[in-house]
Amino acid sequence: MNIEAHHAAVHIWAFKRKVLGLIISCQLPGANNFPLLVDHTSREANYFRNRLEELNAGKLEPLHDAIIDENVFFLRIMADHAKFIGHLLDPSERQLVEQARNFSHDFDQLLYQALDLSSMRPQSQTGPLLDQFLDQNRVSVASLRDFKKTARDLIEACKIKSIIHPLLADHVFREAERFLCLIDMFEASLTGSTTASK
Ligand SMILES: [Fe+2]
Repeated sequence: MNIEAHHAAVHIWAFKRKVLGLIISCQLPGANNFPLLVDHTSREANYFRNRLEELNAGKLEPLHDAIIDENVFFLRIMADHAKFIGHLLDPSERQLVEQARNFSHDFDQLLYQALDLSSMRPQSQTGPLLDQFLDQNRVSVASLRDFKKTARDLIEACKIKSIIHPLLADHVFREAERFLCLIDMFEASLTGSTTASK
């Protein structure tokens, strides 16, 4: 089951780590990707590999753990995206750069909050706490998603100055959409599990 996809994910992860090693040891002169961007894409490959393994084993993390772990993963991904956008926009796009910087700050804060919650486990495993955690993240992810959508559309229409590839602009938008879907799914599962336990 999914063996080929798993194989491919393992290999692309190893390849990305190799490229990262070459970039940070200055053995790839002229490489025009940030080390953090390559590290980011390797984390995404690793995430995909882990999801396939979970699927193949038919084992899913308990709901409360999954909520915290997925949020820690995606909040960092969102914080990275905001940083990439901020650094790849033309410096003359001052307002957009400023907005991207603010998003980067907000998501760094949310990530630290999620990490704090993560280290408080299992005491943190209470429905009301996770509910508020998800609500707070949803608000920020929705506004980042809207910002990314605008940026993507403007890049596609050649209306702003940047060195952001249209595919990267689309990727960051789609990943925010995915995170929002996950949040909604978790929220529904939480509601379902509290109703079931009543
Ligand atoms: Fe990404």
